[in-house]
Amino acid sequence: MNIAIDTSVVLSENGLTVQLASGRTGYFNAYWLRDNCPTSFDSQTRERTFDIFHLDAAPKAQSTELTADGLTVVWNDGHRSTYPMDFLERYAKGERRQDPANLPRRAWFSDHYANIAKFSQPKLLADKAEVARWIEALLVEGVAIVTDMPDSDEGLTETVRLIGHVRPTFFGEFFDVRTHIKPTNLAYTAKALEMHTDTPAEDLAPGMQFLHCRANSVEGGRNLFLDGVAVANDLRKEDPEAFRLLSETHIPYYCEHDHYDVRSLQRVIELDEYGAVTGVTISQHMADIFDLPQQFLDAYYPAFCKFGRMLQSDKYMMRFRLNATECIVFDNHRIVHGRAAYSATSGERYLRGCYSDRGEMRSTYRAMVSESRFK
Ligand SMILES: [Fe+2]
Repeated sequence: MNIAIDTSVVLSENGLTVQLASGRTGYFNAYWLRDNCPTSFDSQTRERTFDIFHLDAAPKAQSTELTADGLTVVWNDGHRSTYPMDFLERYAKGERRQDPANLPRRAWFSDHYANIAKFSQPKLLADKAEVARWIEALLVEGVAIVTDMPDSDEGLTETVRLIGHVRPTFFGEFFDVRTHIKPTNLAYTAKALEMHTDTPAEDLAPGMQFLHCRANSVEGGRNLFLDGVAVANDLRKEDPEAFRLLSETHIPYYCEHDHYDVRSLQRVIELDEYGAVTGVTISQHMADIFDLPQQFLDAYYPAFCKFGRMLQSDKYMMRFRLNATECIVFDNHRIVHGRAAYSATSGERYLRGCYSDRGEMRSTYRAMVSESRFK
C-alpha cells in the first residue's frame, strides 16, 4: 500500500515518487537516495565516504518534505538528507550521465590529409585551450599532427604529458623505429608494414599512439593511415553478417620471443555500449593461429578477408610523408596504420614512439571543459 506523506511525494515499497519542477514525475529507489545523500561525499577528496554495505536495515523514508532547498527525507536510521531538485531532475530519466568527452566520431577517408588537424607544439605548451582543441580532434577524428617538435627525446615526453602519462607496454616506455640489425619486429626493418593497430596481443592494447619523426630523408617509406570507423561502418552497410562476425568473435593475438609470450583475445571491430563502431583491432603479424571450430571458420575467414581487403582500399587509405619535426598522434583502437617499403641506404629514417592512455586523455579533457559536480 502506498502512503502519501506530502502531496507531491508518494512513498512506496522500495522508494518514493516525487513531482519534479519540469512537470515530470520521478521515481527514486530508497537505497539510491540514501547512498547519494550530499553528505555521503567528502568535500575535500570528493570521494564517497558513506558505507551503504553496513546499514543495519534497508533504508526507508520515515517522512519527507519539499521546500525551496529541495526534497528532505528523514530516514529510519534518523539520518536527514536534502536533495537539490536539479540533482533529482538529472537522474530521474535513468539515463547515463552526460560525458563531455563522448564527442561524436567523424569518419574520414583517403583525402583527409589536406584537412588533418595540426597543432604547433610550442603553442600547445603555452595554451591550455589549444590542448583542449587538440584532444577534441583526437576524440572526433582519431588523428592529429603536432608540428614544430624539438629534435629531442624530451620533446616527445613533454608532448605526451599534456594529455596524460607515457603508458608502457611489454617492450618498455618508448620505442625507436629504424632499421635494426637483428630485428624482433617488422617495424624495425625497411620492409613494407601491412595495415595494423599496435600490440593487440596486450590485455588492453595501448590507447593513444605518438610517432615523433626525428629524421626522414629516405626514398619511399610513405606513411599509410586509415580510419577504421569509416571502413567498419561501410562493412556494416555492405555485409551485415560479416560485420556481426567481426564485431562479436574474439580472435587470438600473440607476440612471442625469447623472453616474452603475450596473448590476448580481441574483436576485430569494436563497438560501444550503444552498438556504434568505436574502432578496430587488426594485425596480421600478431594474429595467432585461430583456435576456433573449423566449421565456424568457414564463415569467419571470408568475412575477415573481406574486411582485410577493405583495409587496403584507396577509398580509405591516406598516404603522406611524415616529416622531421612532426609527431603524429592517433587512437590505436581506431586508426589503422602501415608503411610502404623504403630504401635503407638512401638516407636516414627515425621515428621515436610511445603511447598514452585514452581514458586519461578523456579525463584531461573533462577537467578542462566541464563543471564537475563538486565545483
Ligand atoms: Fe605500428
